[in-house]
Parts: sequence; C-alpha cells; structure tokens
Amino acid sequence: MGSYSVLAALPWPVVPVLLILAVVVKRRFLSSIRDNPGPFLASISSFWKVQQIINGHIEEEMLALHREHGDFVRVTDNEVSVGHPDAVKHLLHAKIAKGSWYQVFSIPDYRFVSQMSETDPQRHIDKGKNVAAGYALSNIIKSETYVDDIIATLKGQLNSLIESRKPVHLDKWFNYFAFDVVGEVTFSQSFGFVKAGNDIGNAIANARKLALYVSIMGHFVWFHNLTIGNPLMSTLGLIPASHLFDTCVAAIDARKKNPEARNDMMERWLNVRNTHPERMTDAEVFAAAAANVGAGAETVSASLQALIYYLLQNPMYLRRLQNELDMAQVRGELSPVVQYAEAQNLPYLQACIKEAYRYHSSIGTNLPRVVPKGGLTIRGRYFAEGTLLSVNLWVIHRNPDLFGPDSNSFNPERWLDKERAKTMDYFLVHWGAGYNQCPGRNLAHFEINKLAATLIRDYEFERVDPKKEWSFKNHFITTPCDWPCRAKRREMAGV
Ligand code: HEM
Repeated sequence: MGSYSVLAALPWPVVPVLLILAVVVKRRFLSSIRDNPGPFLASISSFWKVQQIINGHIEEEMLALHREHGDFVRVTDNEVSVGHPDAVKHLLHAKIAKGSWYQVFSIPDYRFVSQMSETDPQRHIDKGKNVAAGYALSNIIKSETYVDDIIATLKGQLNSLIESRKPVHLDKWFNYFAFDVVGEVTFSQSFGFVKAGNDIGNAIANARKLALYVSIMGHFVWFHNLTIGNPLMSTLGLIPASHLFDTCVAAIDARKKNPEARNDMMERWLNVRNTHPERMTDAEVFAAAAANVGAGAETVSASLQALIYYLLQNPMYLRRLQNELDMAQVRGELSPVVQYAEAQNLPYLQACIKEAYRYHSSIGTNLPRVVPKGGLTIRGRYFAEGTLLSVNLWVIHRNPDLFGPDSNSFNPERWLDKERAKTMDYFLVHWGAGYNQCPGRNLAHFEINKLAATLIRDYEFERVDPKKEWSFKNHFITTPCDWPCRAKRREMAGV
C-alpha cells in the first residue's frame, strides 16, 4: 500500500494533525537554524513574533532574550535576530535584500511600490536616486520660514492652554506638529492639525491602526495581497490604508490648485517624472508621498517626546540644557523660533537629541534581511541562503559594550567626549543604515532641533503625575502617549 492510500485509510481528522506534526518536526528539528535558541513557539511558526507585536513590546522581549541567550535568537521558524554589533555591518550596511515583510508597506496595494516596500537592493537604490533631491537638506532648509510659522502657531496653542490652566498633552501636539511639517515640506501646505488643535478626521488614530495592521500582516503578505491589499479593495476604499491614501490624494489635489505651491518635494519628484518618465511612474510619485505621510510624523513625535520626557525624569540634564540655551539667548544667538543653523551651535542640545534617538528609538520592531546566495557567516555562525536575519535597533542601542555600563539609562553626557562619540556614532543606527537608511533623516533632525530648542528655552514643563510612566505600544513605531504636563512660560523665553 502506497503512502497515499495509508493516509486515505485514516479517519479524516488524523490527516491534518499528522501534516501539522510533520511541519512542526521539520521546522523544529531539521531546519538549518535549529541550533539557535529562543522560545519554542518561535521555532515552529511566526505566531510567537506576531503575538509580541500585538502585545506591543517586542523591543523589551528582544532585549531580554538576547541577554539570556546571547547574540543569536530564533524569532520565527525562518528568522534569527542578531544582537551582536556586527549585525550593523553585515546586515544593515550590506547591499542585501529586505525581507518580504516590507512588501506590505505598498500603500494602498502592491501596485504602489515605495522605497520602503521595495525589497530588491538595486531597484531600491534606483528609486532612492529618483527621490533624493527632495530630501536634501539644502531643499528642506527652503521651507524653514513655513516650519517657523507652524512652531509659532504651536506656541500660541500652548500659551492658551497655560492661560486656561489646562494640561498640555505633548504627545498630541508633537504628532500634530510633525504631520503639519510633512504636509508643508512635501505639498507646500500644512495639514492644519496644530491650528485646529485636534486629530482632523482621525488621521492619527487611523495611522496607529495601520501601523499595527502592517506590522502583523507583513508576516502574511500573500494573504494580505489576496484580501485587504487587493487592488479591488483599495479601489472600493475598504482598506485600513484608505485613510492614508485619501489624505495623500486630497493633498496632491489641493497642491495642484495651490498657486503658491513651492519647489517642494512633490515638485522635485514631478520634475524627475516629467524629464525621465522611464525612471519614475505616477504610482511611484504617489507612493513616495504616501511613505512620507506614513513614516514622517509618528517617528518624529516619538523622538521629540523621548527627549522631553527623559529630560523631565533627569532634571540635572534639563537644567544644563536650559543653561546652554539661556546663555546663547543672552548672547543674541537665537531667533524667536530657533533656526536650524543656530541649534547646530549648541553642543549640549545635540548630545541630548542623540541620546533621545539612542535611548528610545522610534523604530522598535526587528528589521529583517534575506541571507544572499552563498550564505552568510556572522561571528563564526553560518546561515544558509534564504534565511531571514533581523536586527532590533533597541538591542544595538542598549549594548553596554558599545555605549557604556550605563547604556540602560538616559545620559546625554556620554556624547560630550568627541573621541568617544566618534566610536559610538557608527552604532547609533536610529535611522537604519546602508541603502535602507531613512531618507527623511534631514527633515526629521531639522524639525526636532528647531522645536526642541524653542520649547525648552521658552517653557517649563512639569508632569501632572510624575510617578505615572507614559505608555507606548511598539507596533513598528514606538510613539508614546498619556503623560500630560503642566506648562509655564520661562523668563528667558524668546519673543
Ligand atoms: C526621528 C524620526 C525618524 C526616524 C528615527 C526614522 C527612522 C527610520 C528607519 C530606521 C528607517 C529604515 C527602516 C529599515 O531599515 O527598514 C526609515 C525608513 C524610512 N523613513 Fe524614516 N525615520 C524618521 C523620520 C522620517 C521622516 C520625517 C520621513 C519623511 C518625511 C521618513 C521617511 C522614511 C521613508 C520613506 C523610509 C523608507 C525608506 C527605505 O526603505 O529606504 N522618516 N526611517
């Protein structure tokens, strides 16, 4: 009797159970990554990892597992998380493909491939060249006066809250601010969140739902493409990404009618599209705009929040920073809204911002890469072609061998020694590294510098309940919430 007829003779429920058992045994005991330690469930499926993402603190799990097991931890049946610093060189800097997880970032569906969702290194680099001019600092600086206006409006809102003795929810204001800046720099028009003082059309609430959705469904891209990521669904507007899609369509339409549209990012991309139609399609221009709106707000908000929150937890550092700002103000070196160039001359501010990037990285889930042809050896351990190797930025950033024995504490002063900072800089990978490095980093750093310097110079913040920790869920982006403050104006305040 052949094996088929043996199976046919069994009662039907036994067959699927046997098949599942065979898959479990194969993944657990026969896989080429079977010797890498980790939770049992992780060795047989993606469900352990997905569960951690849903729980919202995979960064804590990864820190704990790497402390327990060392450099290599198996996180799915085909993925190993690499915690050793060599991962920065071998995985982030290397020109190797990104895992299929990223494909789910094609918003609203797989026809709209952005830099983020492009997994092939060469195609990704080509796409990067098409959009690079828009992200150049020299281009972003041209929007400085418009960003100044958003900061002035935000200060107006804070002053009203102070007058009416209401608490200040910086988590919300920083999100509104970052969304408005993306609008201004990409489409020559802020979305108007700061002025309205609320989450217009639930855009931010929807962005969070979308982040949870993509970070889970990236593990099941085939299913996503068949269902929610099917072009038919987006055409009918039935998908979680439709809000982001609609926001971009509306912004692009408004821009077309705006006689004051500047030489903004859109303009730069449309120039490439018009002069080299063979290099860039309309869908790509749209995808780049959607990537900005999707990636450029919550990330910035997370870093700004971390900066202020941890300075409030560590008043000694806050006083030193205020002192630096006050001295610069007295010397007449700061404008009413601090200019980017002015902020660059404040070394303590720079140290504090770097420490916020390190201590609370905005991107908190593992970033997967595919082992290329011929395999890859890291720290003497060989990984076969096709295996996923991933890096969690929190694991790199909290490594005491790289950042000192107090790597688990917020201490901006570790950055003040220039020689030491130089060695640490290579491992400060909050923007990622290599060909996948964040293209929005100039914009993010620009706006964070300006807003942080202006607010810390002009206001004193105090937590309403200093004993209560903030809360945050790491669904790819680690944007915190729920830490209301009382604010008052400082005597040194700029005009
Ligand atoms: C503090 C703020 C920010 C941080 C920490 C940050 C971090 C990152 C990281 C780590 C990646 C790479 C992920 C990977 O390797 O897979 C990334 C990608 C990306 N970021 Fe940012 N980002 C920030 C702000 C922004 C802003 C303001 C924009 C645009 C306006 C932006 C646009 C993008 C895009 C389009 C990608 C995908 C690029 C690619 O895959 O090549 N980001 N970001």
